[in-house]
Amino acid sequence: MAVSVVILAAGQGTRMKSKTPKVLHEISGKPMLFHCLEAAQKLSDDITVVLYHEAEMIEKRIIENYKNIHFHIQDALNFPGTGGALRGIEPRHEKTLILNGDMPLVTNEALHKLIDNNADITMSVIMLNNPSGYGRVMIENGKVTHIVEQKDCTPDQLLTKSVNAGVYALKSDLLKKYIPLLNNNNVQKEYYLTDIIEMAVNEGKTVLPIEVGEEEFKGVNSKFDLAHAEEIMQAGIRTKWMMEGVIMRLPQTIYIDSRASFEGECVLENGVSIIGKCILKNAHIKSNSVVESSEIINSDIGPMARIRPESIIQDSHVGNFVEIKKSTLNGVKAGHLSYLGDSEISTGSNIGAGVITCNYDGKKKYKTIIGKNVFVGSDSQLVAPVIIEDDVMIGAGTTVTQDVTKGSLAVSRVPQKNVPNFFYKFFGKK
Ligand code: UD1
Ligand code: CA
Repeated sequence: MAVSVVILAAGQGTRMKSKTPKVLHEISGKPMLFHCLEAAQKLSDDITVVLYHEAEMIEKRIIENYKNIHFHIQDALNFPGTGGALRGIEPRHEKTLILNGDMPLVTNEALHKLIDNNADITMSVIMLNNPSGYGRVMIENGKVTHIVEQKDCTPDQLLTKSVNAGVYALKSDLLKKYIPLLNNNNVQKEYYLTDIIEMAVNEGKTVLPIEVGEEEFKGVNSKFDLAHAEEIMQAGIRTKWMMEGVIMRLPQTIYIDSRASFEGECVLENGVSIIGKCILKNAHIKSNSVVESSEIINSDIGPMARIRPESIIQDSHVGNFVEIKKSTLNGVKAGHLSYLGDSEISTGSNIGAGVITCNYDGKKKYKTIIGKNVFVGSDSQLVAPVIIEDDVMIGAGTTVTQDVTKGSLAVSRVPQKNVPNFFYKFFGKK
């Protein structure tokens, strides 16, 4: 059966103590709402995100990244609460799945458990020894009777260990029928979505509790939860890529963005960070290196190297303390202590220790182009824009300010002068 999905993301998220809207806080490189949206996209072509706080900012971020998402602005002043969030929503399909935008760990498989049955309403239940913070699900003879929010619980009800994870699948016509009937007669004076459960039960509808894993349905409400969700997601990402053939040394020290991908046999040593949309193919990233939004193919990087966005490094060796930004290296060796920015370097070239591309004049950025088989001597500066043709040799310590033609030597060093016995004249004889 086709489903519509509604993602609730209108809440303020005060407990995050942040100016950033809660659902835009990132986990593994993406706002948590995006993880949730992607799980929804695997299930449905009719997705509505309910917004209110910072609606414009969140909507803009979604539109930049996803197509065909509908938006609904909650009338949160008159109808606050999760029930108020659903007022006026018109799902296209017979069934509606309701998700929270602060549930970044939810998986497609877990959601299928809620959808793939014939009950009028299915709801996610977690069994918790410490149920604090959640609505309690009252179950009698295996059947849900109603849900009581923590703030509305009697001391006895507070002991209930079955809690509402906040995800529901229900027949869309029931949603349309019950939402307008909700009231706000409760401690928080909010319109509780959870009250539709009791309405449905009273009309003899089947409400099926589905027990779900705490990890997958974890809601992020604080920065502590955010860090915890990140740990869980990272463990999952690393496991996935190890199963796909990536070798990891001390995996728990490695960070991998959810947008990164690996091919062939890659090695990630301890302390490596793979940030952004990276593509690594037969790459060996040595300890404590950072690779950001770049492609690394048949190359080794580090230890302690930093590859910044928009770099493409192929068949190359990049050693320790080398920083590369927006550069293409193809068959290059840059073994030590260099900054290579806005550059293109071709096959057979060797970049000596301490070489710097001076790509910025204080106003604009310029390119350095280095041809094939160029030997750039140690401690040289290449002042961009500059073109160094094939088969060029640059003497150590040269400041290159002019283009160099094929086959030449460029050297700008002050000639060496030796003054005999200067030491003794200056310091005296020992
Ligand atoms: C809700 C449930 C509670 C459940 C918990 C699971 C209700 C009344 N209670 O609690 O039983 O245990 O989720 O996490 O539904 N939101 C809106 N508009 C609003 C209020 C909230 O869109 O007016 C969104 C939030 O952005 C969030 C989601 O709904 O994504 C849940 O809101 P939150 O305040 O975290 O949940 P509770 O109401 O505490
Ligand atoms: Ca609330």
